[in-house]
Amino acid sequence: MKILVLNGPNLNLLGLREPQIYGKQNYAALVAFLEQSAKEEGLEIECFQSNHEGVLVDRIQAAYGVFDGIVINPAAYTHTSVALLDALKAVSLPAVEVHLSDVSLREDFRQISYVRQACPRTIMGQGFEGYRLALLFLKEYLEKN
Ligand code: DQA
Repeated sequence: MKILVLNGPNLNLLGLREPQIYGKQNYAALVAFLEQSAKEEGLEIECFQSNHEGVLVDRIQAAYGVFDGIVINPAAYTHTSVALLDALKAVSLPAVEVHLSDVSLREDFRQISYVRQACPRTIMGQGFEGYRLALLFLKEYLEKN
């Protein structure tokens, strides 16, 4: 099973960026954590981060026929991007929406998620662990479907 893990804008600044919200570990630590989690579950993963909406759309499109599922933290694009929602719907791959923080407890503008409509599961507020749970969800989901 091949899973694409996409991270959106400013997640490259993990560790530096509002550590009281997003934690002290950096993006490289997140990738290392994901690779270890994937290895333990026998999954193949590719991690990719971009600050650019269109680049993320391109990666979702390119996942068609190559990956079996997508884990996506669209970051700020969660709350603005119909393009990411449409791309996920277009490729119709099972996708899990992940947020490090619990966006449900934050500002009003974070209460909208466009991509959620294309994701059978959303995981928030669990830090890095949320990504591991997303991989586990996809593994079980793919085994059943
Ligand atoms: C985030 C939450 C978003 O609201 C925010 O814009 C981010 C990160 C999270 O992981 O908690 O950049 O997706």
